[in-house]
Amino acid sequence: MTKMGRLVSTLVVITSAAWITGCSSSSTTKQAAMPQAKAVDPAIVEQGKQIAFGRSKGNCLACHMIEDGASPGNIGPPLIAMQARYPDKAKLRAQIWDPTSVNPESAMVPFGRMQVLTEDEIDKVVEYIWTL
Ligand code: HEC
Repeated sequence: MTKMGRLVSTLVVITSAAWITGCSSSSTTKQAAMPQAKAVDPAIVEQGKQIAFGRSKGNCLACHMIEDGASPGNIGPPLIAMQARYPDKAKLRAQIWDPTSVNPESAMVPFGRMQVLTEDEIDKVVEYIWTL
Protein backbone atom coordinates (compact mmCIF):
# COMPACT_ATOMS: atom_id res chain seq x y z
CA MET A 1 0.00 0.00 0.00
CA THR A 2 1.28 3.48 -0.82
CA LYS A 3 1.69 6.15 1.84
CA MET A 4 -1.29 7.99 0.36
CA GLY A 5 -3.38 4.83 0.40
CA ARG A 6 -2.61 4.24 4.10
CA LEU A 7 -3.53 7.84 4.91
CA VAL A 8 -6.85 7.56 3.11
CA SER A 9 -7.79 4.29 4.80
CA THR A 10 -6.83 5.69 8.23
CA LEU A 11 -9.05 8.69 7.58
CA VAL A 12 -11.91 6.44 6.53
CA VAL A 13 -11.62 4.45 9.76
CA ILE A 14 -11.55 7.61 11.88
CA THR A 15 -14.52 9.21 10.14
CA SER A 16 -16.69 6.09 10.23
CA ALA A 17 -15.85 5.55 13.92
CA ALA A 18 -16.94 9.11 14.65
CA TRP A 19 -20.07 8.61 12.59
CA ILE A 20 -21.02 5.39 14.39
CA THR A 21 -20.43 6.93 17.82
CA GLY A 22 -22.40 10.03 16.90
CA CYS A 23 -25.20 7.98 15.48
CA SER A 24 -25.62 5.60 18.40
CA SER A 25 -25.50 8.35 21.00
CA SER A 26 -28.17 10.41 19.23
CA SER A 27 -30.53 7.45 18.88
CA THR A 28 -30.14 6.66 22.61
CA THR A 29 -31.13 10.24 23.40
CA LYS A 30 -34.16 9.96 21.13
CA GLN A 31 -35.33 6.74 22.75
CA ALA A 32 -34.99 8.25 26.19
CA ALA A 33 -36.91 11.36 25.18
CA MET A 34 -39.77 9.59 23.40
CA PRO A 35 -40.37 6.12 24.85
CA GLN A 36 -43.91 6.09 23.32
CA ALA A 37 -42.90 6.85 19.75
CA LYS A 38 -43.01 3.53 17.95
CA ALA A 39 -42.64 4.08 14.24
CA VAL A 40 -45.28 2.26 12.21
CA ASP A 41 -44.13 0.89 8.89
CA PRO A 42 -45.65 3.12 6.14
CA ALA A 43 -46.31 -0.04 4.09
CA ILE A 44 -48.65 -1.32 6.85
CA VAL A 45 -50.53 2.01 6.84
CA GLU A 46 -50.87 1.83 3.06
CA GLN A 47 -52.18 -1.75 3.23
CA GLY A 48 -54.68 -0.63 5.88
CA LYS A 49 -55.88 2.12 3.55
CA GLN A 50 -56.39 -0.37 0.72
CA ILE A 51 -58.46 -2.61 3.02
CA ALA A 52 -60.48 0.34 4.37
CA PHE A 53 -61.18 1.68 0.84
CA GLY A 54 -61.70 -1.73 -0.80
CA ARG A 55 -65.36 -2.08 -1.76
CA SER A 56 -65.36 -5.82 -1.07
CA LYS A 57 -63.23 -5.54 2.12
CA GLY A 58 -63.69 -2.92 4.85
CA ASN A 59 -65.73 -0.63 2.63
CA CYS A 60 -65.55 2.01 5.36
CA LEU A 61 -66.31 4.62 2.66
CA ALA A 62 -69.84 3.25 2.32
CA CYS A 63 -70.61 5.03 5.61
CA HIS A 64 -67.69 7.33 6.47
CA MET A 65 -66.09 10.38 4.93
CA ILE A 66 -62.32 9.67 4.82
CA GLU A 67 -59.62 11.93 3.38
CA ASP A 68 -58.82 10.92 -0.25
CA GLY A 69 -61.88 8.67 -0.44
CA ALA A 70 -64.24 8.96 -3.42
CA SER A 71 -68.05 9.01 -3.00
CA PRO A 72 -68.27 8.52 0.78
CA GLY A 73 -71.54 7.80 2.54
CA ASN A 74 -72.67 9.66 5.65
CA ILE A 75 -74.32 7.01 7.81
CA GLY A 76 -71.35 7.23 10.19
CA PRO A 77 -69.33 10.28 11.32
CA PRO A 78 -66.35 11.57 9.30
CA LEU A 79 -63.14 9.82 10.33
CA ILE A 80 -60.98 12.80 11.23
CA ALA A 81 -58.65 13.82 14.10
CA MET A 82 -58.52 10.19 15.23
CA GLN A 83 -55.41 10.41 17.44
CA ALA A 84 -56.88 13.35 19.33
CA ARG A 85 -60.20 11.56 19.82
CA TYR A 86 -58.71 8.09 20.39
CA PRO A 87 -55.44 8.58 22.26
CA ASP A 88 -55.75 4.91 23.21
CA LYS A 89 -55.35 2.88 20.01
CA ALA A 90 -56.93 -0.14 21.73
CA LYS A 91 -60.24 1.77 22.03
CA LEU A 92 -60.18 2.53 18.32
CA ARG A 93 -59.53 -1.15 17.60
CA ALA A 94 -62.42 -2.15 19.88
CA GLN A 95 -64.77 0.19 17.99
CA ILE A 96 -63.81 -1.42 14.68
CA TRP A 97 -63.69 -5.01 16.00
CA ASP A 98 -67.19 -4.74 17.49
CA PRO A 99 -68.99 -1.36 17.51
CA THR A 100 -71.82 -2.86 19.58
CA SER A 101 -69.39 -3.08 22.50
CA VAL A 102 -69.53 0.73 22.53
CA ASN A 103 -73.07 1.29 21.21
CA PRO A 104 -75.41 -1.74 21.33
CA GLU A 105 -77.61 -0.10 18.67
CA SER A 106 -74.71 0.55 16.31
CA ALA A 107 -75.41 0.36 12.58
CA MET A 108 -71.71 -0.30 11.91
CA VAL A 109 -70.53 -3.75 10.79
CA PRO A 110 -68.80 -5.70 13.62
CA PHE A 111 -65.75 -6.40 11.46
CA GLY A 112 -63.93 -8.60 13.99
CA ARG A 113 -66.81 -10.33 15.75
CA MET A 114 -68.45 -11.27 12.42
CA GLN A 115 -65.05 -12.11 10.86
CA VAL A 116 -65.59 -9.73 7.95
CA LEU A 117 -61.92 -8.82 8.32
CA THR A 118 -59.14 -10.97 9.79
CA GLU A 119 -57.33 -9.86 12.97
CA ASP A 120 -54.34 -8.92 10.82
CA GLU A 121 -56.49 -6.85 8.46
CA ILE A 122 -58.08 -5.06 11.42
CA ASP A 123 -54.62 -4.26 12.85
CA LYS A 124 -53.65 -2.65 9.53
CA VAL A 125 -56.92 -0.71 9.25
CA VAL A 126 -56.43 0.58 12.81
CA GLU A 127 -52.90 1.79 11.98
CA TYR A 128 -54.27 3.60 8.92
CA ILE A 129 -57.34 5.13 10.60
CA TRP A 130 -55.11 6.35 13.43
CA THR A 131 -53.15 8.48 10.93
CA LEU A 132 -56.28 10.41 9.95
C1 HEC B 1 -72.84 0.32 7.53
C2 HEC B 1 -72.18 1.57 7.80
C3 HEC B 1 -70.77 1.55 8.37
C4 HEC B 1 -69.64 0.95 7.84
C5 HEC B 1 -69.52 0.11 6.59
C6 HEC B 1 -68.55 1.33 8.71
N1 HEC B 1 -68.99 2.12 9.73
FE1 HEC B 1 -67.87 2.94 11.20
N2 HEC B 1 -69.54 3.78 12.02
C7 HEC B 1 -70.82 3.67 11.52
C8 HEC B 1 -71.74 4.40 12.39
C9 HEC B 1 -73.25 4.53 12.19
C10 HEC B 1 -70.96 4.94 13.44
C11 HEC B 1 -71.46 5.81 14.62
C12 HEC B 1 -71.25 5.14 15.97
C13 HEC B 1 -71.95 3.82 16.08
O1 HEC B 1 -73.16 3.74 15.80
O2 HEC B 1 -71.27 2.85 16.43
C14 HEC B 1 -69.58 4.51 13.19
C15 HEC B 1 -68.51 4.84 13.99
C16 HEC B 1 -67.20 4.57 13.69
C17 HEC B 1 -66.06 5.02 14.45
C18 HEC B 1 -66.13 5.91 15.66
C19 HEC B 1 -66.17 7.31 15.10
C20 HEC B 1 -66.12 8.41 16.10
O3 HEC B 1 -66.32 9.54 15.67
O4 HEC B 1 -65.88 8.16 17.30
C21 HEC B 1 -64.94 4.55 13.84
C22 HEC B 1 -63.50 4.77 14.26
C23 HEC B 1 -65.37 3.79 12.71
N3 HEC B 1 -66.74 3.84 12.63
C24 HEC B 1 -64.51 3.16 11.84
C25 HEC B 1 -64.92 2.39 10.77
C26 HEC B 1 -64.01 1.66 9.91
C27 HEC B 1 -62.50 1.66 10.06
C28 HEC B 1 -64.78 1.04 8.97
C29 HEC B 1 -64.31 0.11 7.88
C30 HEC B 1 -63.46 -1.01 8.27
C31 HEC B 1 -66.17 1.37 9.25
N4 HEC B 1 -66.21 2.21 10.33
C32 HEC B 1 -67.24 0.94 8.50
C33 HEC B 1 -71.20 3.03 10.37
C34 HEC B 1 -70.35 2.29 9.56
